[in-house]
Amino acid sequence: MREQITMKKIAPSILSADFGRLGEEIRAVEDAGADLIHVDVMDGHFVPNITIGPPVVASIKKTARVPLDVHLMITDPDRYVVSFADAGSDIITVHAEATAHLHRTIHLIKEAGKKAGVSINPATPLVAIEQIIGDIDLLLVMTVNPGFGGQKFIESMLAKIGEARDMIDHAAPHVLLEVDGGITLRNMEVVHKAGADVFVAGSSIFLSGDYRKTIQEMRTILDR
Ligand code: DX5
Ligand code: ZN
Repeated sequence: MREQITMKKIAPSILSADFGRLGEEIRAVEDAGADLIHVDVMDGHFVPNITIGPPVVASIKKTARVPLDVHLMITDPDRYVVSFADAGSDIITVHAEATAHLHRTIHLIKEAGKKAGVSINPATPLVAIEQIIGDIDLLLVMTVNPGFGGQKFIESMLAKIGEARDMIDHAAPHVLLEVDGGITLRNMEVVHKAGADVFVAGSSIFLSGDYRKTIQEMRTILDR
């Protein structure tokens, strides 16, 4: 068995949760087997939607028992790295497209004592992160254009996931490969086989009606 198999993680995205009952929703997916809680931060500038900021992350941190995987879809993230670190983020992921000096941003996150992730949009080639792959803890390959939950998985990203797996295995085996957008029970197996380690899933968990059953079915696929 490959060592990675036991490391595969399921990260429910609270973007599709009921925000009026956020604490209960987080507790429910944790009880159902979530490994991480994925928190989508949108600024209405880098992406055409607005979600939450550091105070909400701080509130979530008070109830969450698993690490917070905070996905910053914001322009010029350097301005907010310390705020999100202080709020209790465990992993802070920024977009390569959103910062002029990606290497600096990554090191700001690390200096704040947090795991550093970098995300690339579907149109961004992997070469954009090649020079900094050894500096990061997590690479997030977006499988939709960020901004909204419930979008369709972009099939052509499967090849990119495979190429990212190869790049990580050759250059930086410690890096976790995360996928985000349109992940469902139907496509999870092919994404798993392509080499992803961390599976973000929003609507396919929170709109499923039975979090435990859905996460258990996902786990069964990842154990294959
Ligand atoms: C998209 C977000 C995702 C989103 C995933 O911009 O980064 O985390 O919530 O939602 P689903 O799983 O519904 O595509
Ligand atoms: Zn996300």
